[in-house]
Amino acid sequence: MLYLKKVNYEDIEKEYLFVRDMPVDENGLTNPYHGVSREEFESKALPEMIAFQKGENLPEGYVPETFLFFWNDDVIIGQFRIRHYLCESLRTGAGHIGYFIKKEFRGKGFGKEGLRQMLQIAREIIPEEEIYLRVNKDNPASLQVMLHNGGYIKYEDKDKFYVRIKK
Ligand SMILES: CC(C)(COP(=O)(O)OP(=O)(O)OC[C@H]1O[C@@H](n2cnc3c(N)ncnc32)[C@H](O)[C@@H]1OP(=O)(O)O)[C@@H](O)C(=O)NCCC(=O)NCCS
Repeated sequence: MLYLKKVNYEDIEKEYLFVRDMPVDENGLTNPYHGVSREEFESKALPEMIAFQKGENLPEGYVPETFLFFWNDDVIIGQFRIRHYLCESLRTGAGHIGYFIKKEFRGKGFGKEGLRQMLQIAREIIPEEEIYLRVNKDNPASLQVMLHNGGYIKYEDKDKFYVRIKK
C-alpha cells in the first residue's frame, strides 16, 4: 500500500536513514540534513521538522511547513513537503509543494501517485485558490508528474516552469 505519513518519532530509524542519504540538492529540492549523524537527527533535525509544521522555531520569513514520508508498505520511498500558505517569496518562487522519490524507486509511477495523495492533503490546508509549483526546465519527469495531476504551466522564465493546479 502507498501512503503519506507525517514525520514522527515512531518511525525514527527509517526516517533517519532516508534523510541522511537524500542529496543536499537535486533539481532545487534541498535537504539541509544530508549526512546527519543519528544523534543530531534525533536532537535537532526531527524536532525541527516537527516544530515547523506547527509554525514553531521557523527561520525569519518562513511559513509553516509539513514534512511527510511516502511509504510503500513498510519502506520509505519518498519525501513530500507542503508549505501551508504563500508568502511573497514562495508566490514568485518555490510555491507550496516539494517532493523527492529515492532513485531506485523512480520511473514506476510513485511520483505521480505521491503528488496525487499530497494534493488531497493540500486541499485541506492551503487557503489559496490554486496550488503553486515550480520545476526546472531540465526536469521533465517532475513536469510530467505535475501535468498528470492537473497541473498547467502558468508562465515560464529562462530556467523554470511555474505550474498551478486548481483546488
Ligand atoms: C521528479 C521525481 C519525483 C519523479 O518521480 P518518479 O517516481 O520517477 O515519477 P513517475 O514514475 O511517477 O513519473 C515520471 C513521469 O516522467 C516521465 N519521464 C521520466 N523521465 C523523463 C524524461 N527524461 N523526459 C520526459 N519524461 C520523462 C515518465 O515517463 C513519467 O511519465 P509517464 O507516466 O507519462 O510516462 C523524481 O525523479 C525525483 O525525486 N527527482 C529528484 C527531486 C526532484 O526533482 N523533485 C522535484 C522538484 S520540482
